[in-house]
Amino acid sequence: MDLRIRSFEEYQKAYQYSVEQPEDFWGDIAGNFVWKKKWDKVLDWNFKEPKIKWFEGGKLNITENCLDRHLEERGDEPAIIWESNDPDEHHRVLTYKNLHQKVCLFANVLKNNGAKKGDRICIYMPMIPELAIAVLACARIGAIHSVIFGGFSAQSIADRIQDAQCNIVVTADGSFRGTKEVGLKNVMDDALVQCPSVQKVIVLTRSRTPVSMIKGRDVWWIDEIHKAETLGQVDCPAEEMDAEDPLFILYTSGSTGKPKGVVHTCGGYMVYTGYTFQNVFQYNSGDVYFCTADIGWITGHSYIVYGPLSQGAATLMFEGIPTWPDAGRFWDIVDKFKVNILYTAPTAIRSLMQHGLSFVEGKDLSSLRVLGSVGEPINEEAWHWFNEQIGKKKCPIVDTWWQTENGGILISPLAGITPTKPCYATLPLPGVQPVLVDEKGEILEGNNVTGNLCIKFPWPGMLRTTYGDHERCRTTYFATYENMYFTGDGCLRDEDGYYRITGRVDDVINVSGHRIGTAEVENAINMFTDVIESAVVGYPHDIKGQGLYAYVVLSKEARDVELTKKDIAATVSRLIGPIARPDKIQFVYGLPKTRSGKIMRRILRKIAEGEINNLGDTSTLLDPAVVDEIKNNRL
Ligand code: PRX
Repeated sequence: MDLRIRSFEEYQKAYQYSVEQPEDFWGDIAGNFVWKKKWDKVLDWNFKEPKIKWFEGGKLNITENCLDRHLEERGDEPAIIWESNDPDEHHRVLTYKNLHQKVCLFANVLKNNGAKKGDRICIYMPMIPELAIAVLACARIGAIHSVIFGGFSAQSIADRIQDAQCNIVVTADGSFRGTKEVGLKNVMDDALVQCPSVQKVIVLTRSRTPVSMIKGRDVWWIDEIHKAETLGQVDCPAEEMDAEDPLFILYTSGSTGKPKGVVHTCGGYMVYTGYTFQNVFQYNSGDVYFCTADIGWITGHSYIVYGPLSQGAATLMFEGIPTWPDAGRFWDIVDKFKVNILYTAPTAIRSLMQHGLSFVEGKDLSSLRVLGSVGEPINEEAWHWFNEQIGKKKCPIVDTWWQTENGGILISPLAGITPTKPCYATLPLPGVQPVLVDEKGEILEGNNVTGNLCIKFPWPGMLRTTYGDHERCRTTYFATYENMYFTGDGCLRDEDGYYRITGRVDDVINVSGHRIGTAEVENAINMFTDVIESAVVGYPHDIKGQGLYAYVVLSKEARDVELTKKDIAATVSRLIGPIARPDKIQFVYGLPKTRSGKIMRRILRKIAEGEINNLGDTSTLLDPAVVDEIKNNRL
């Protein structure tokens, strides 16, 4: 069976087949990939433990699918097109042949530095082709990569490295973002003080930021490449991996505790990202595809690196930010490279919208054929602006809903095939069986219902465990509702059976498309010397979608209120990273609590949202007077 769906009828047929005969369906799809040995069994699962195995007994290496298999037919075609932060720096194009060579060479560098199959390797790098090369080189030798987004603090990096017990780190001296230079190696050095498992640090030169290099531990990327070249180590056979061997770990925030290391495996993830990339974006050979995400997040893993490359696509990587040198940067890039498919986030669209149309005018956007959105609910105004001003009403918008844990897109239109509706992720992809449940776990049948979104059957790209703590995986995703994967999202199914995601129903906040756990931010705030306790909630933010609103109880009156707020924000930045800095901090005398001591977040959320006249029942509160105080002083 061909991977590609070409009409709505074909979609309906594929969907029905995938539900009635899931194993036959996914076996057929997997046949479009290169396997060193065919699987014995397509699927073995239960959501109780959970145990999920796809393509058991199958052997493969994902990089053979992303690189080697394209060499003959499209070896000289672009695999990665790279645009620098600085518009005056020349862009780079790596063909499939170039990329294959560079990945093999760096894979040998990793081996020369002691890397083995199954090792965990931390990657903390700017958005440059070497980041993709490092990721693929890990996969080539069967090492498990753990990429950390450039905006995380030393403490967050240390937590992640320790959790995974990484033995090698790949980083760069620094990165450029707009006018800023960010010292990556310096931050990494602060983290490594707490990470005795790390034996080697490979450092790429990008920004020429001065760095310390520790003898015996730190080596320069370029020197190691030269060494490998001198030794003639140009080829690197792809390690034979079991379909269920881990491919990577990616940390993500939940409603409690520290971030979890979501584990994805080789076979299912490959099949799922390749299949969804083809069908959602309807990629045609020769198209230029531009996903504006960072490889530090799942969108970058699945839809800058693995999905597009497994399908032989030309994937564009951009190092900079949408608003520098001005708010027309994305449109300059579309114009310059004749981008056909643009996949971005609502927060970027809203921010560019705000800068006005002068940055769009005069840019040739006629190459665009498909637009995509991901990361958070897209509001109606942004959807229409994207459709009218960027797509000129001729490009379908695919509003793709999915999560780090899902590996790939679960609910989305197929571009040009599924009729779209503003703000709706529309219909599930083949193989995905969503259900809406009420608070009691009863499945809500039929249309025109709203509930908590669950998935009742496995799909190949789903997480298998959370690293080092399988029980946490069970309790977080599989224990809320029996025999279902719980997404944490609220959702509406309308009269046409279309799905609209309404946002998180747990204590996770989506700030500019970044997932932030309130508990994590509260823990960081509570580390500040004068803080007794705090509560963090989300509130609607024009650009970011949601902002962080912190209510903080101090042990003594702040000497300088504004400075103390800044100190608290600095503490959060230091402990988690700038992305978790609260947007608003309100000092309060007490938090609204029930008699059993539970903070009533519902009330705090309403106050943060400005709905102060509709707080609901406050009679169960220990001290209802605190609510008035908070209300009267709200920011
Ligand atoms: O709340 C949903 C929101 O982002 C969450 C997942 O975040 P993360 O794991 O960081 O992955 C983001 C990119 C895949 C979801 O639980 N979300 C993601 N896409 C959408 C969305 N909400 C509404 N519409 C979307 N298209």
